[in-house]
Amino acid sequence: MDALSIAKKGDFMTNVSTNVVPIRWDDGKGEIVWLDNSQIPWKEVNVSSKDLERLINAIQKLEIRGAPILGEAGAYGTAMIANNSNDSKDDILKNVTEHGNRLAAARPTAVNLSWGVRCIQDVVKDEIGRGAGPKEIKSATISAAKKIQADNIEATHKMGEQGKHLVHDGDVLVTVCNAGTLACDGLGTSTAPLRAAWADGVKFRVLTTYTAPLYQGARLTAWELHKDGIPVQVITDNMAGHLMREEKATAVWAGADRILGNYTEESGSVYNKIGTFGLSLMARELGIKMYVAAPTSTIDPVHTIADVKIEQRKPEEVETLLGGTTVVPEGVRVINPAFDRTPPSHVSAIVTELGVAEAPYNVSLTRMLELPESMVKVMENTPGRKG
Ligand code: MRU
Repeated sequence: MDALSIAKKGDFMTNVSTNVVPIRWDDGKGEIVWLDNSQIPWKEVNVSSKDLERLINAIQKLEIRGAPILGEAGAYGTAMIANNSNDSKDDILKNVTEHGNRLAAARPTAVNLSWGVRCIQDVVKDEIGRGAGPKEIKSATISAAKKIQADNIEATHKMGEQGKHLVHDGDVLVTVCNAGTLACDGLGTSTAPLRAAWADGVKFRVLTTYTAPLYQGARLTAWELHKDGIPVQVITDNMAGHLMREEKATAVWAGADRILGNYTEESGSVYNKIGTFGLSLMARELGIKMYVAAPTSTIDPVHTIADVKIEQRKPEEVETLLGGTTVVPEGVRVINPAFDRTPPSHVSAIVTELGVAEAPYNVSLTRMLELPESMVKVMENTPGRKG
């Protein structure tokens, strides 16, 4: 039985499901298979590889993208590194450490990528510690990566249940980027409460922002919601303020690449696709809600604002329309940050698989991370942790 069917059997599951499989492990070939996000909505192409350089390239080109899927890619990628190693414990440990760290650095902002890598590095260390042989270690890494995927899927269904009461009949909801199945597996993160509410008969409509320069909103979120039959209209990013006021938007729903949960007043700072901060300002001005949905694996209990690196991407993404027509005069420079940071004071609530957190986030997120079911384990020595 594969990870997906195990997860779908959980009894907390909503009756909603998507038939999109964004990533999986092919047991027969020992390869990772992913749905190339860069080709949607034009083509649905599955790519498979056991080559780490190809995987890193796919992550950097956004064939594989979105925080929770990056967690799964980090886990499967590190399991693949272990399985590509010689049958020697030293070789496995050396490779998952060195190459795993390189994989973790492929994109710096989404904390889930390094989290997924570290989970499998820890499995290797634990297996070696208990005296397992190389074959057992290799097989344990695959099982652990599949479990991470199953847990992720389960978490999206739980987020749907936790957050669906925040969606009401007649709502006009604004989304940014793609925090759906393609980015998160299962029901997605910010799409999960929407899908769960829709399945319960709640009627609302969605305005999804283009999300230039790579158009994840237009290409991917619109593709997913349209398939589900949820009314969705695409707007350009610069229409948001006007249309949020004129169409009487009721809430913004965003995912997250990293949420600070570092025990300070920075807790609840949300790193997400560039444009999220702007939408939060508009929501605040218009007096509408700004909701964020993410699994606990996206909460970072360690780092501070000063530590988090915002990924700067290639200028060509801004200079051209998806690599085609040039829209910037030659010789003119551009700036291309992939993410921004929304302050906790702009965030009405954060929906995770374990509940709905509200301000003060240094209290509510801390409580969540201390729960035994939290995907992130807070250590006694986590900096800033009290008592
Ligand atoms: O650059 P991307 O497409 O990987 O950015 C993705 C996002 O910003 C998503 O909103 C985020 O990862 C949340 S997905 C739950």
